[in-house]
Amino acid sequence: MIKNTLLALLFLISITSNAQKFEGLAETPPLGWNSWNTFGTDINEKLVMEIADKFEELGFKDAGYEYIVLDDGWMAKERDANGNLVADPVKFPSGMKALADYIHSKGLKFGLYNCAGYTTCAGYPGSRGYEYQDARSYASWDVDYLKYDWCNTPKLNAEGAYMTMRDALKTAGRPIVFSICEWGDNKPWEWAEDVGHLWRVTGDIINCWDCEVGHGSWSSSGVWKIINMRKNIRKAAGPGHWNDLDMMEVGNGMTDAEDRTHFAMWSMLASPLIMGNDLRTASKETIKTLTNKEVIAVNQDKLGIQGFRFSNENNIEIWIKPLDNDAWALTFVNMSDKPIQLDYDWEKHNIGDDLNGKYVDMKKTKFTIRDLFNHKDLGDTSKHLQSVIESHDVLMVKLDKKN
Ligand code: GLA
Repeated sequence: MIKNTLLALLFLISITSNAQKFEGLAETPPLGWNSWNTFGTDINEKLVMEIADKFEELGFKDAGYEYIVLDDGWMAKERDANGNLVADPVKFPSGMKALADYIHSKGLKFGLYNCAGYTTCAGYPGSRGYEYQDARSYASWDVDYLKYDWCNTPKLNAEGAYMTMRDALKTAGRPIVFSICEWGDNKPWEWAEDVGHLWRVTGDIINCWDCEVGHGSWSSSGVWKIINMRKNIRKAAGPGHWNDLDMMEVGNGMTDAEDRTHFAMWSMLASPLIMGNDLRTASKETIKTLTNKEVIAVNQDKLGIQGFRFSNENNIEIWIKPLDNDAWALTFVNMSDKPIQLDYDWEKHNIGDDLNGKYVDMKKTKFTIRDLFNHKDLGDTSKHLQSVIESHDVLMVKLDKKN
């Protein structure tokens, strides 16, 4: 009897200790690079090593970018005779462990992609039925991050499928950031806080301001379509669990102004900042945007509060994000196709955030104003803020409380 009770207790302890994600891995939104947006399945180890080199050379590492993630297409089309995943021998002749070692030698971290279904979206072996085995492979290759997709999952329950992979990773024992990618279809913001560290909230991004491009059964969305797609999900974001607006398209064909806005908005919304461009050919302006430490600091603010749309008048959207130390980030976006002269009277607009119980009487409390893209101080909130904002561009400022 005692023996049975003890065994039952041990069993309970073992399942409850597995049934949790690794904590402390994404206290601020993950920063990194992913191969998909630019390269699709056309990836190889030389490319990835060159990207890792660029992280150092061009200041991405210094700006805080950490993860280099291989998306779909890194595997051979078949598992080996023992059911193990294998790296494509032509694209990755040295294997995944060697690539992980190279990336780690640069002080960076290494991520891989797979899928909860029988096959990945591009038709490579998925993890369905192999979750624990695959998790052991990732751990043995020193993987630090797993993006886990949702193609070819007929009748699977999303929460259950992602919990299985979470538990498999936990059991394999290597701390791995778990990036859920089921496109928001099953409302992960309602259940994924204890399952993964980030979850995609929409289908795939595409490099345009506000377009939608159909591909038959699914479509890709431009920057503003993604921003506007989900309502009331900001409360789900916070240290360790983030709404993921998808890999960025900065440097992939929009104007520099649109790229700035895209980057500012992903920062305001506390989205993971995962670059999706070819770092080897990035323009000076693209590099400048992506390595802007003052903007990244807004994204990485330790409170981890996702910003929100504060107002939308006369083609100017104003977004607000409460920051640590009673500071605030505000982003003014010119949504029109012409420049706009901004004349903003702070005293007429008290700022606040109901969700977090933060309110400021702007007549009583004064703030200094810092322009985060131009790295300039703009005086304080006792005077109107005046500035010309170009079409589709932003004025992104940080307000710090004056003593
Ligand atoms: C899905 C994901 C993308 C990418 C591709 C790979 O579409 O949403 O981000 O991973 O699959 O096939």
